[in-house]
Amino acid sequence: MYDLTVIIPTFKEESNIGTIIESVDAVFSRNSITGEILIVDDNSPDRTIEQVRELQKTKPHLSLVVRTDDPGLSQSVVEGFRRARSDIFLVMDADLSHPPALLPVMLAEIRAGNDLVIGSRYMEGGGIKKWPLKRRIISMGATFLGRLLFPEIHDPVSGFFAVKRSVVEHAPLRPRGYKILLEVLGKGTWQKAKEIPFEFVDRATGSSKLGGRTIIEYAEQVIDNARFSWNHHECIVWQEWVKLFRFGAVGLSGIIVNEGVLIYLKGYVQFSLPVASIIAIELSIMSNFILNDTWTFKTEQQHAMPHWWQRLLSFQVVSIGGAAINFIILNALAAFAGIDYRIANLLGILVAFAWNFWVNRRVTWKKSE
Ligand code: GDD
Ligand code: MN
Repeated sequence: MYDLTVIIPTFKEESNIGTIIESVDAVFSRNSITGEILIVDDNSPDRTIEQVRELQKTKPHLSLVVRTDDPGLSQSVVEGFRRARSDIFLVMDADLSHPPALLPVMLAEIRAGNDLVIGSRYMEGGGIKKWPLKRRIISMGATFLGRLLFPEIHDPVSGFFAVKRSVVEHAPLRPRGYKILLEVLGKGTWQKAKEIPFEFVDRATGSSKLGGRTIIEYAEQVIDNARFSWNHHECIVWQEWVKLFRFGAVGLSGIIVNEGVLIYLKGYVQFSLPVASIIAIELSIMSNFILNDTWTFKTEQQHAMPHWWQRLLSFQVVSIGGAAINFIILNALAAFAGIDYRIANLLGILVAFAWNFWVNRRVTWKKSE
């Protein structure tokens, strides 16, 4: 039994396969990792298979699976899950786009209790080198769709991730296309995921096999995962959607409080607009906090901030930012653009709401680390 299995799907990688195997191997020995390297090849017509067989002579921990039907990157990775002889799987590309130096870090994070560790291009410290504009645009679209399902994950379509065997062992995966991680996120059994930033470097040799069909397959996959989560209400995607929905509903109730109080104070009590607006905003913050704390995030609340007053404080501080946004937009639009104050207020509320959701989800009711 090995510490982990590095699963590398390959198709026509004769120019990279030797280098990637040697560098993974070097990382294993430098970090005293008893690892397995598992190459899953779709019967490449070039010299990929021959080269792996040659290296196997000196490396007993190097395994090779040659597939002959239903070719595909995701299918190959899932085949790797089945063949792996360890309880931790790490998937990476053969073309040196994913730095092997991160392997020990990802392994350590899994051992620290994460079910899933994702090498992420789209977070602070991550990035992409040498990608043509077309690839960047396609990737942005794919990432956006993926984030609709997993708002928590910066890079739900990364090809670089580590996962516990138990996450995928009984998962009804329907692998196809390129984005196996989305399938694992959507159908795997996991609670804790962690992202680690890395810089994706485009392949220096060989070519990407991502084409038009890949994009269509991906769209189907997103729909399939959305349907799956709809049918399995206990799963993580669904829970996340419920939170988004509830936060929105609470926000709506806050709009009613805010706008109602504003109209009452400005229109009937004849307060000045800035004063009326500040009171309206503060009252809606309070009602929003109570509803979000007892309803939207009632399963989340204990984790990051154990006491209700900490969460209230945090929510209040975030809301002051939101209120400032609301206040500035309302007053600026009313005073300088001549827009009706009621409409101006609604616009201010909208922008402030987006801010509030984004920050509170990451600070006040953050998932447990
Ligand atoms: N077995 C097998 N079968 N392997 C394949 C196949 C296939 O049909 N197609 C590609 N591969 C292998 C390649 O040999 C390489 O090791 C890896 O899968 C990635 O293939 P690339 O063609 O280099 O992918 P990419 O660079 O365009 O895309 C990468 O980045 C995407 C994120 O933008 C991959 O990591 C994707 O998984 C990732 O989603
Ligand atoms: Mn590549």
